[in-house]
Amino acid sequence: MKKVLIQGAMDIETDYLCGQVKKMGQYHCHEEDNMVFHIGTQGNKTYIVNQTGIGTVKAAMATAYALAVFHPTLVINQGTAGAQTRELSTGDVVLVQEAVNINSLAMPKRKLGEGSDPFAWEGYRTTYYQADEVLLDLYSKLPYTSGRMVKGKAATGDVFSREDDRIVWLSEKFHTICEDMETAAVYEVCELFRTPCIGLRVISNNELLDEEFNEEPAKLLQHYIWKITHDYL
Ligand code: 5AD
Repeated sequence: MKKVLIQGAMDIETDYLCGQVKKMGQYHCHEEDNMVFHIGTQGNKTYIVNQTGIGTVKAAMATAYALAVFHPTLVINQGTAGAQTRELSTGDVVLVQEAVNINSLAMPKRKLGEGSDPFAWEGYRTTYYQADEVLLDLYSKLPYTSGRMVKGKAATGDVFSREDDRIVWLSEKFHTICEDMETAAVYEVCELFRTPCIGLRVISNNELLDEEFNEEPAKLLQHYIWKITHDYL
């Protein structure tokens, strides 16, 4: 029996997946406080689709709840991200090999009146959380046709960076290629629960190329994920 938890933060990242699960033979909806889980079963496969909400706290909360209550056999976290390199543009997909929490920073001491220099900040207890290797390998072999697909590290924080110098600094400091607000939180919780997980992020904006947030790629990624999950997982 396979039980796949598929997550996205926003409605533009989950609406198609919810629609697909609702069409399945056996469907029900599980609600707990402000969390909604759409659950569909077909043969020996169960899919649980959840809109986690935006940010590390909501993503961690929704993941911990789902893992404790439903015991999925694997977790797919997916959605949009901003590119941190000129090599990626809107529509490309990052298979998140590792994710790091960029909220966790420590700064050198400065006294009153000495100002602030965010470029002097260092990662604090920096930890890279890993995607499941088998899932990573599987996805990297399955064609995504709406853009390029690359493996790389994601920077996760409760921040939406739009300053080019800051974006480049983050990328160099953490060796990351994209930024989002959920992946590292989900990976950390999955590691604690010893549940395999994979994150896929479609580029929705690239400040370095002056590409502003575009929600269309979120749809394309959902279509890809549904097809692959259905056919291969
Ligand atoms: N920085 C941070 N989060 C981003 N997202 C898309 N682009 C970015 C970006 N440049 C995603 C986050 C969050 C929502 C704002 O979209 O994961 O859920």
